[in-house]
Amino acid sequence: MGKENCIISLQGVSKVFDGVTVVDDINLDITKGEFVTFLGPSGCGKTTTLRMIAGFETPDKGTIYLNGQDVTKVPPYKRPINTVFQRYALFPHYDVYDNVAFGLKLKKIPYEVTDRKGNKKIKLRKLTNKEIDEKVSRALRIVDLEELEDRDISTLSGGQQQRVAIARAIVNNPQILLLDEPLGALDLKMRKEMQLELKEMHKKLGITFIYVTHDQEEALTMSDTIVVMKSGEIQQIGSPMDIYNEPVNAYVANFIGESNIYNATMAGDRTVRFLNHAFDCVDDFPLNEKVDVVVRPEDVVISRLPKNTEPNKDQLVGRIDTKIFKGVHFEYVVMVGKSEVLVQTTKNHNVDDLVALSVDPEDIQIMKKDITTNLYPEAWINNKNQLIIGESVFDVDLTSLLKGSKVDEDGYLVSAEGKKYDLKDADVIAEIPLNAIEIIDGFDNGNVNGIIASTIYIGDHYQIMVRTSEEEDFILESPYTWNVDDAVSLIIPKDKIKLTVKGDISKYVIEA
Ligand SMILES: Nc1ncnc2c1ncn2[C@@H]1O[C@H](COP(=O)(O)OP(=O)(O)O)[C@@H](O)[C@H]1O
Ligand SMILES: [Mg+2]
Repeated sequence: MGKENCIISLQGVSKVFDGVTVVDDINLDITKGEFVTFLGPSGCGKTTTLRMIAGFETPDKGTIYLNGQDVTKVPPYKRPINTVFQRYALFPHYDVYDNVAFGLKLKKIPYEVTDRKGNKKIKLRKLTNKEIDEKVSRALRIVDLEELEDRDISTLSGGQQQRVAIARAIVNNPQILLLDEPLGALDLKMRKEMQLELKEMHKKLGITFIYVTHDQEEALTMSDTIVVMKSGEIQQIGSPMDIYNEPVNAYVANFIGESNIYNATMAGDRTVRFLNHAFDCVDDFPLNEKVDVVVRPEDVVISRLPKNTEPNKDQLVGRIDTKIFKGVHFEYVVMVGKSEVLVQTTKNHNVDDLVALSVDPEDIQIMKKDITTNLYPEAWINNKNQLIIGESVFDVDLTSLLKGSKVDEDGYLVSAEGKKYDLKDADVIAEIPLNAIEIIDGFDNGNVNGIIASTIYIGDHYQIMVRTSEEEDFILESPYTWNVDDAVSLIIPKDKIKLTVKGDISKYVIEA
């Protein structure tokens, strides 16, 4: 099992709730002293994984090792692990010191006595006040609260309360600290400060931190290792740099930082075609292979075209659609034909300027297409709760975004807990499995019209790519032969379209 210095190892770990697999065959080794972050959208199984590590849930399959010992069925209080929850419950009428000391005052430790006959016996005793004092002082020093030990909890700021919760979790010298979205309740400025402080505490303590967040920036700033999760499965494990620069698929690329993602085709030797343009690249894939391309906004090189110049045909030309000043750089959306290119640069341009764009070959990240599913990272929801991909409109089931939710008479999504969400204009990632799409002859017989762009025979069926007039591609499977350039329609049942909100769904909450 596990690599050297491995403190926690999950092997084939799965968890099922009500017949639904919410953690699916997770394999993960965590090294002593590492700062590991589970990153993924709400509902992807982060908390459940953490709870299995802590011992609050038992896996349905698989084994958890702690320092090489199988602890799968060991109860939480026997694991040298402590947890800081998102909703930490402090005692509001106790002061800081008593909140941190609370658990220690109840704790009993074993000690050895020798009776009159000379037999050794193990007895339990409480900690002395001096012992408690030493432990509490050390914990308060680490979270930088020594000065405030006499203050009532109710007089502290959110950030200070958070630090008390952390002190309480580390006072027993755990080997591993689990932190489940601990900064979720803080405002942005406080969050940023606490991120840095947590990093400092991690250094001072020297123990293993396992951190959970849905905030990619938080994950990038704090972690040694990021574990990107989706629907209970690990997508990628790597350092922040690895994951940012070399995402293994479009899902990870999209989740981690802003990026331009395009459906592309290999157009020759180290040449890839997207945005109706052939780019030099450094990756070698077979000719005509469909690939996903990621270009980070800071890697797009932009230069102004003087008025009335005819762009030469090797240049990729666009028009600036929007401009936002972001403090250090500008962020532009440049329209190239009907496609958007997000660009970040310190150069100043104006809306409606014509610009030439280019990308260095090594800044074009090419990924093998996951062709079990069509992925549309730039989809959105219109004001009729329909999904828009390119310019095609689909009926969808929004309740699939939140377990137990429903859509009320005003069209708002209402969660099981009664929170209301207005998803009009929400950016979503849509996934449509290949086998969910039905193809029929002729235009206007289904949801989407298109022309067959390619067909490939794969063993016992054809893989057919249909392209719309907006150059959106739909890949599907069919047992029948179809001819390239035929006009067809596609039918996509609404229960087959899987939606994920980009970023945190809570930003769409409205007052009830
Ligand atoms: N005790 C439970 N009973 C039933 N379903 C649960 C339970 N805990 C979590 N789930 C479900 O498991 C999925 C993963 O949840 P969770 O691990 O909390 O995700 P995350 O922390 O990534 O938001 C969700 O669909 C959630 O509703
Ligand atoms: Mg959670």
